[in-house]
Amino acid sequence: MIDTIPRSRRLFRGRAAPARRPRALRYAHVIGWGMEVPSQVLSNSDLEAIVETNDEWITTRTGIKERRIAAQRETTTSLATRAAQKALDLADVLPSAIDLIIVATATPEHIFPSTASLVQDYLGATNAGAFDLSAACSGFVYGVDMAVSKIQTGTVNTALVIGAETLSRVVDWTDRGTCILFGDGAGAVVLQGSDTPGGVLGSVLRSDGSGWDMLTLPTANSRETYLQDGAHQQGRIYMDGRGVFRFATRVIGESIRDALTQAGLTPDDLTLVIPHQANQRIIDHAAKALKIPEDRVYSNVARYGNTSAASIPIALAEAVEEERIKPGDIIALVGFGGGLSWAGDGHRVDCRALPPVVLAHLGPPPGGLRLRRSAPPADPQVAAADAALADDVDSHGARLPAPPPRADQQVARREGRGVAGNGGVLSQCFTSPPLGANAPRFPLSAAAKRYPQMPPIPQLLPPRCA
Ligand code: UT7
Repeated sequence: MIDTIPRSRRLFRGRAAPARRPRALRYAHVIGWGMEVPSQVLSNSDLEAIVETNDEWITTRTGIKERRIAAQRETTTSLATRAAQKALDLADVLPSAIDLIIVATATPEHIFPSTASLVQDYLGATNAGAFDLSAACSGFVYGVDMAVSKIQTGTVNTALVIGAETLSRVVDWTDRGTCILFGDGAGAVVLQGSDTPGGVLGSVLRSDGSGWDMLTLPTANSRETYLQDGAHQQGRIYMDGRGVFRFATRVIGESIRDALTQAGLTPDDLTLVIPHQANQRIIDHAAKALKIPEDRVYSNVARYGNTSAASIPIALAEAVEEERIKPGDIIALVGFGGGLSWAGDGHRVDCRALPPVVLAHLGPPPGGLRLRRSAPPADPQVAAADAALADDVDSHGARLPAPPPRADQQVARREGRGVAGNGGVLSQCFTSPPLGANAPRFPLSAAAKRYPQMPPIPQLLPPRCA
C-alpha cells in the first residue's frame, strides 16, 4: 500500500509535526558600521629604531606610513565593543535587538570564552548568541557570510559582525619582514533582515590548507617540532611574505568576480571594492585584475597598516565617512590571508533598508520614502535593562558619570527617538581620544613604558641599537 503521509511528516507519526518556519526569503542589509583604533601611532621612522628598516623601503614595498598600537588597557574585546557600539548607535539598534554576534579575530584574549561573548556582555546584548570566527584576514567576510545566511533563512533578524585585532601583541618585533606590516583596531557592521531586495547579493568562501605554513600564529598547542625549527615561535606571527603576496594577487580578483557572477553582476557594475588592507601593491593589483580604475578600490593601508580581520570593516566605515559609498552603489568586499583562506562578496546599498541616521550619513534620502525606525523592545524587563545601560551602568554594575551625548544622539533625543546602545559606558571603561591629525605620537624613549605587554625594548632591539 502506498503511504499517503507526506515524507516530511512520516517521522512524526503519532505526534504533532513541528511547526514549519515560514520560508519567506529575506535580504540582509548592512545598516550600520563603526570603527575603533587605538590613539597611539607607530610611524615608519619610529620603526627605524626597532629594526633595520627605513621609511622609503616600507612605503615603496607596502604603502604603509603608520599603524595604531593598543595601549595597555586596550584589548581586542574593548576595541571590538567600541566599534560595535558605534555601529549600533548609527543603525539605531538597541543591544537587546541583536540576535547574533560574530567576532572575527586572530588575537582573542582567550581561546574560550570567545571575544564575542565578552562583547555580548559589555553591550548588554542579552538576546544574542555569540561566537568567534577564525579565518585570519578573511574572517570578516566569512563572518558577514555566516550572518547573511542566518538572516536569509529567517532564523536571525539582526546580527553584529566585528573584525577586531591587537596584532602588536603577537608580532615578532625582531622580524623586519613582518613587524612593519601590522597594526591594531576594530570595525563592526550591523546586518539586518529586510524584504527590500538588495544588501548582500552573493558571496564566496574559499580555502587552500596546503598553504597553511605560509602564514602562522602558533599557540600553546602547536606541534613541538614546528616550534623547535628555529623559525617559528609560540604566540608570534610567521609569514612567507613573497609566497603570500603571490597567493593574494592570484585570488583577489577571482573571488570578487565569482561573488558578482552569483549576483548576475560584473566588475563594471562596481562602485567601490573594499579589499583587505595588506599591502598597497596588492590593493593596486585588484584594480588591474578586475579591469577597473584604481580609484574604485579603497585604501587606507597607509594609516593603519594590516589590521587583519579588522581591516575591511575599518575601511568600510571610513569609506562611508568619506562619502565614497552612496545609496544604489554596488560594492564588493574581499579578504585573503592565513589558512590559506580567501572570501569575497557583493552588496547593493539600498536606502529603503537603511535607518534615518545612516541615510543622513549617506546623503539626503530620495523624497517620499517611508523609513524604518527601530522600536523599543516589547518586553518591559528588556526595555528596562536597555534603559539602565543607556543610563551608564556598566556591565559590572558600577555607576559611571554620563559622558556628553554625541551630536547624532542629541539629534535623535530631540526628535524623541530611542538612542541605541549604551554609548557612555565603554567610553568610560576604555577611554581613547578621537582620531585625527592631532592623535598623540609616543616618543620612542617611552616605548617600553607604553608596551608593557611586550618584551622590554632592549630585548627587541638588534645588538647595535641596544
Ligand atoms: O594579511 C595577510 C596577507 N599578507 C600579505 O598579503 C602580505 C604579503 N606580502 C607582502 O606584502 C610583501 O611580501 C612584504 C611587504 C612582506 C615584503 O615585500 P617584498 O617585496 O616581497 O620583499 P622581500 O621579502 O622579497 O624582501 C626584499 C628585500 C630582502 O633583502 P635581500 O634578500 O633582497 O637582500 C629583505 O631582507 O628587502 C629586505 N627587507 C627589508 N628591508 C628593509 C625585508 N623587510 C625589510 C624591511 N626593511 N622592513
